[in-house]
Amino acid sequence: MLAHNSVERPQQLCEASVVYFVLFNEAGHFGDPNLADEVVPVTHVQHTGVVDRFVIRQSGPLSGEVHLGGAKNSVLKLMAASLLAEGRFVLHNVPDITDVAIMSRLLEAMGVTVTRSGSRLQIDVPMLVQPEAPYELVEQMRASIVVLGPLLARFGRARVAMPGGDDFGPRPINMHLGALEQLGATFESAHGYIEARAELLHGTEILLEFPSVGATENAMMAAVLAKGQTIIENAAREPEIADLATFLNKMGAQVLGAGSSRIVIEGVEDLVAVEHEVIPDRIEAATFLAALGICGGELTLRGARPDHMHMLIQKLGDMGMRISPDADGLWAAAPRRMRSVDVSTLPYPGLATDYKPFLVALLSVADGVGIVTENIFTGRFRYIDELRRMGADIRTEGHHAVVRGHEALSGAPVKAHDIRAGAALVVAALGADGTTEVAGADHIDRGYEDLAGKLRALGADVERA
Ligand code: UD1
Repeated sequence: MLAHNSVERPQQLCEASVVYFVLFNEAGHFGDPNLADEVVPVTHVQHTGVVDRFVIRQSGPLSGEVHLGGAKNSVLKLMAASLLAEGRFVLHNVPDITDVAIMSRLLEAMGVTVTRSGSRLQIDVPMLVQPEAPYELVEQMRASIVVLGPLLARFGRARVAMPGGDDFGPRPINMHLGALEQLGATFESAHGYIEARAELLHGTEILLEFPSVGATENAMMAAVLAKGQTIIENAAREPEIADLATFLNKMGAQVLGAGSSRIVIEGVEDLVAVEHEVIPDRIEAATFLAALGICGGELTLRGARPDHMHMLIQKLGDMGMRISPDADGLWAAAPRRMRSVDVSTLPYPGLATDYKPFLVALLSVADGVGIVTENIFTGRFRYIDELRRMGADIRTEGHHAVVRGHEALSGAPVKAHDIRAGAALVVAALGADGTTEVAGADHIDRGYEDLAGKLRALGADVERA
């Protein structure tokens, strides 16, 4: 369990079995390509029509190039980190996705102004903000919890709606709260909100029981303004953590070791607003590589960072894909049919759980049998029922899935339940005869800017309807 400090933790906030996030996915499609070059308050962009499904026909071979957007899982945390200083922040390479719109609304609810111009996001943070994350926004995006650390660090208090579970199971936040408590915060729960306070945050040694991405980020963002030195042991090592550290250091923080499992932070008095380019989205990269694996052909991923995707590249190589770094990204070529392999998800640098739906889709049409083991989120298999509706031969047992590849799947109406699993259905449909309709496109829009358009640019037959 967590290392405890002397602060007494209210039971209802600290038991992993009790504190959950709920992910609702009702936010609409965000953004209108026609407005891309206009400066618009991010929260004022509205639905432009009824676009709630993808229609896909069997495709391939693919060819061409795709430009990757900025990493969703990085930009959301950078936006939260902007709460740490007054002034004008500018983020480049920000994808036009619903989750960024939700985080913008969350910041605006606190008194921050967020405007977008193309892929540039401007965040104007006033001297004082209302340190509260309301339920109607937190319920839409569980990543909202990362505002807790920066709000506590800068204002000494925060009121954040308590989230629940999500579509792939319970999402506890006990490690976030435990780490912040060790830094000196206290928590109470009232009326569905976490009320957090900290007279003074002080440096400490935090040992995470698991390298949680969100808990590492919350602890980092609180520790940068704490008094003295903080050491986070067993920290998450994802590239998005390193991106956050780069951003914080530009702001004047002193963070060393991000990207390794030991992060050392010397607290500073205050921070300043900065400009930063978001790293490319490695999960979006995996999406296109899986599409290539299913359809065959070759493609170039502009902006890709092969050094962020070692394990994926190795796994796809084992399956028969050729991948080589390119001046500005990577080039990949796939045979007509990939070979099956076993897959096991692990914290970075292991194979990301977010890649798994794409690998399962790929294994469904690969040559042979692959065993997939999920070690991060044990409930993340719901989309498999949808793949089975498309004729995939998959048996699940606990956190394992046995995937027997077939030459082709069979087009069917299916439904997206979360961002990556939804995109994986679109990708799987490229290898299904006939037509597949993937409903619940709004889930996919949470993390993808124009997935259909980018796939079409590679020659795939994908439309929004
Ligand atoms: C982030 C990513 C998500 C990715 C995941 C793992 C964002 C917005 N999301 O989610 O896409 O799949 O990392 O790479 O960046 N846990 C606890 N207690 C806690 C926190 C986590 O028990 O306080 C457990 C979780 O239930 C899960 C595991 O730890 O089993 C990993 O979760 P974590 O790394 O925290 O994922 P997120 O930050 O939520």
